[in-house]
Amino acid sequence: MSRVRLRPLTSADADLLNLWQKPPYVGEFNRFGMPARPVRVNEDRGALIVELVADGTPIGSVSWHAVMYGPNPESAAMNIGINLIPDWRGQGLGTEAQLVLAEMLFATTAVNRIEAMTDVENVAEQRSLEKAGFRREGVLYGAQFRGGVWHDIVVFSMVRRAVPTIGQA
Ligand SMILES: CC(C)(COP(=O)(O)OP(=O)(O)OC[C@H]1O[C@@H](n2cnc3c(N)ncnc32)[C@H](O)[C@@H]1OP(=O)(O)O)[C@@H](O)C(=O)NCCC(=O)NCCS
Repeated sequence: MSRVRLRPLTSADADLLNLWQKPPYVGEFNRFGMPARPVRVNEDRGALIVELVADGTPIGSVSWHAVMYGPNPESAAMNIGINLIPDWRGQGLGTEAQLVLAEMLFATTAVNRIEAMTDVENVAEQRSLEKAGFRREGVLYGAQFRGGVWHDIVVFSMVRRAVPTIGQA
């Protein structure tokens, strides 16, 4: 049983989401020096609040967007992202939230592939993805420009047939 669940954003979350786009709430690997933007949600992308099952405390957010690997709808994958606020990191909750999100996307969309990408220096996210059952695929060299320099990015994936159950990852 997961300790976290995902819930839709409401207009009451606007101030919280604006705050979470600023340091120190947003993780160092998610800081692109861009102004805070409204969260966009449509059929190709979405975002949800991560909250504690125990008492509904909001602890961060997850998001996803479609990535095409061919012109047909079957070749769409979902690329996911996560940001927990600092107080709630390092307790396994990010791992659970990413697995809950993957299970939700497999259950509610037709995608066969869910992927996640993170900086080669973001050891916590790499470990978290591995614990959630994602498979490390390789490195995209010089792919992401952040903080004035190009960064290498690691790609992870989970395909539909390999979704683990929480606790078995
Ligand atoms: C990345 C993030 C989602 C991970 O979730 P989390 O709940 O904090 O992570 P977990 O506690 O499940 O696991 C973290 C793992 O990384 C390890 N870890 C953390 N920092 C580490 C470091 N600097 N070096 C080595 N290992 C590290 C932990 O030991 C743990 O592994 P373990 O369970 O085997 O001991 C969360 O920390 C977060 O939101 N960070 C800020 C935003 C971010 O970086 N998002 C991803 C960006 S692309």
